[in-house]
Amino acid sequence: MDCRFVFEDGEAFGAPSVSGETLLATAERAGASLLVDCREGTCMSCRGRLTAGKVDYAPRYQRTVQIAPLAADEVLCCIAQPAQPQVEITFSYPRAAVRPVRPMVLELQEIVPQSEKVVLVRGAIRGRFKLAFMPGQYLDISIPGTDSRRSYSMANASSTPNAVELHVRLVPDGVMSEYLTNRARPGDLLDVRGPLGVFYLRRRPVPRVFVSGGTGLAPMVAMLRDLVAWGELDQPVSLLHGVTTRGDLYGIDEVKQLLTHFADARFAVAMVEADAAWDGVQGFVTDLPLAAEFERLGTDIDVYLCGPPPMIQAVRHVSDRAGIPSRRVFSEAFSAAPASANSK
Ligand SMILES: Cc1cc2nc3c(=O)[nH]c(=O)nc-3n(C[C@H](O)[C@H](O)[C@H](O)COP(=O)(O)OP(=O)(O)OC[C@H]3O[C@@H](n4cnc5c(N)ncnc54)[C@H](O)[C@@H]3O)c2cc1C
Ligand code: FES
Repeated sequence: MDCRFVFEDGEAFGAPSVSGETLLATAERAGASLLVDCREGTCMSCRGRLTAGKVDYAPRYQRTVQIAPLAADEVLCCIAQPAQPQVEITFSYPRAAVRPVRPMVLELQEIVPQSEKVVLVRGAIRGRFKLAFMPGQYLDISIPGTDSRRSYSMANASSTPNAVELHVRLVPDGVMSEYLTNRARPGDLLDVRGPLGVFYLRRRPVPRVFVSGGTGLAPMVAMLRDLVAWGELDQPVSLLHGVTTRGDLYGIDEVKQLLTHFADARFAVAMVEADAAWDGVQGFVTDLPLAAEFERLGTDIDVYLCGPPPMIQAVRHVSDRAGIPSRRVFSEAFSAAPASANSK
């Protein structure tokens, strides 16, 4: 079977497909890159239009595809497999948009607790490459002493690309969590790859709604920092943030400070397991005035969602109901690491 991949700028390449292989695997085996994030059908980053042939999905992905906000001719390359000898996929981005992903070295500088569960990891990129990234993108980090790697969004502005800041939620028995809690030391050199992902700030003059869950705040902070650095402050911004417990709550003062720069900024936080001292909204991020914000700002807006997959799905339902085109809704799902991230 042969797959052909066509880009917006007319660039194209073809590659033979091995039985049972996804379109993404075929492209990568041919040494080519596509825009991808989650690699498991949740983020929509790898979507393309099927312009010839047919594709199929493994049984375990049938439900994923049913609920994905895809147009009739769109497919998800990370989980779709060719079902006819000739398949052609067309992407709505130029091939040049796929930036080279470089292996780099991150020197760990400090780990600063932000709350009971969240730490701020500061580091510096060493070596001859600079980490040129767009705010919202992420890095893959190899965890020292293991065969595992994990993904983390930059929270630093893209104007300070090599002074990396990451917000990491520590989870029980987590491989990265264990390293950061017990073994990490300033000066450790970590192998990283990046920049990765297509969840990045679109620079156009429209209102923006950011919805984050937990450490999904990290890329939003990067985007806000860049908007402030660029002086792009005229358009309304709303940041609606959700956490599960008080232990997940961090970064609020910095967000408030960043938002003071904007002419029209709104910010609200919801906590699911609210304690007695919590005086904000109790519940999920969808219990915040999300639909009201969409109604206030209209449909010519950009929406950025980052956090756990169920949060993203829930907010996408609200944005769909509000009539916001799915191509204006960008998301990054902080899904747990796929098995492939547990060996290099
Ligand atoms: C594109 C992308 C960007 C990401 N960016 C960030 C980021 O900026 N900040 C951040 O904190 N995380 C981020 N993540 C998640 C991160 O990559 C790890 O999955 C997470 O830090 C857990 O890693 P770990 O090695 O400590 O735990 P693992 O070894 O992966 O997990 C150990 C156990 O904990 C469970 N678990 C994993 N995650 C959670 C969770 N969130 N809550 C409860 N249980 C969990 C697993 O199912 C497993 O049983 C991102 C994920 C992706 C895909
Ligand atoms: S990379 Fe395919 S849906 Fe996320």
